[in-house]
Amino acid sequence: MAIRSLAYVVLDTADVEAWRSYGENVLGLQASDHPEGIRLRMDERPFRFLVRKSDKEQFHAAGLVYPDKAAYERGLEGLRKAGVALEPASAEEAKDRLVVEFVRCVDPSGNRLEIGWGRVIDGNPFVSPAGVSGFVTGEMGLGHVVFPALKLEETRAFYIDQLGFGDTDFMRAYLQGGGPEDPGIGMYFLHCDNPRHHTVALGEFPVPSGLIHMMLEVPTLDDVGQALDRAIAAGVHISSSLGKHMNDKMVSFYMRTPSGFDIEYGFGGIQPDWKTFTPTISVKEDEWGHRWDFG
Ligand SMILES: [Fe+2]
Repeated sequence: MAIRSLAYVVLDTADVEAWRSYGENVLGLQASDHPEGIRLRMDERPFRFLVRKSDKEQFHAAGLVYPDKAAYERGLEGLRKAGVALEPASAEEAKDRLVVEFVRCVDPSGNRLEIGWGRVIDGNPFVSPAGVSGFVTGEMGLGHVVFPALKLEETRAFYIDQLGFGDTDFMRAYLQGGGPEDPGIGMYFLHCDNPRHHTVALGEFPVPSGLIHMMLEVPTLDDVGQALDRAIAAGVHISSSLGKHMNDKMVSFYMRTPSGFDIEYGFGGIQPDWKTFTPTISVKEDEWGHRWDFG
C-alpha cells in the first residue's frame, strides 16, 4: 500500500511572527496560536503547517499519511524489514499532529519524515484572510515538497520500495549551461496514491534550510497573480518569475519564506491517471518563464 498524501509540514523558525505575517498576508493562510508557535490552515484540516519557535531556521519534517490503519501497519512492517529505524511518537504528539498515530524516520538522504494515518477535522470553514479563493488539497494533500537528496538513487528507491511511491518524471537540470564541466543535477518527481503529479521530488544538491521548495496550488490564475502582488508588496524575495513547468504544466512563481526555502505558488497542475500513465524523462524544465534569481 502506498502513502495517500502529504498531510502537513513542520517548520522551525527563529521568528514565528514573521511566519504569521507571511502565512496570513502573503500566502493567504489562517494562523492560530499553538503552544510551540503557530498553526497555518488552508482547508478543512485544522492545520497544514506547524511553525515552531526554535533557534534554528529549518524545514523540520514532512507528514505523510497512509489512508488507514491497515495500510499504515503494512507500511511499517515493510520499513522495519528493510532495517529503517522507526521512532514511535507518543499519543500526545499524534494528537498534536491531528493524526491517530505516527512514527518518525529519515530517508537515506537524511530528510525527516513523520509517517502516520488518520484525518482529524473540526468542521470549521477555511476563510483566507487575504481573499484567496481556496487551495487545491483534499485527497491530493497540501501540495508537494522537494527534498535535497545527495544519495539520489538510494533515496528514490526508498520512496518507491518502502512507501509505495511511483516515478512520474526524471529530469537533469543544467544550471551552468550544460557544457562538459556541467554534469547537471538529477531530479526525480514521484507520485503517491492520489492524482497529484508529484508529492515528493528529489534534487541532487544540498540546501542549508533542509528543503528545496514546497508547492501550494490554488484554483485560478488570478489567485497566483494576486499572491505575486502581495509578495512584492511585502518585500518578499521573488526567487523565480512566473512560468509554466513542462512536466506538471503548473503555472507558478517561487518566493522565499522566512525560513530560507522557497514556496512555489501555482495553479493548473495536471492530474494523471496512474493506471495508464507512462513515466516521462524531461529534457527541458519549462514551457516558458521561470527566470531564477538565487540572490
Ligand atoms: Fe515544484
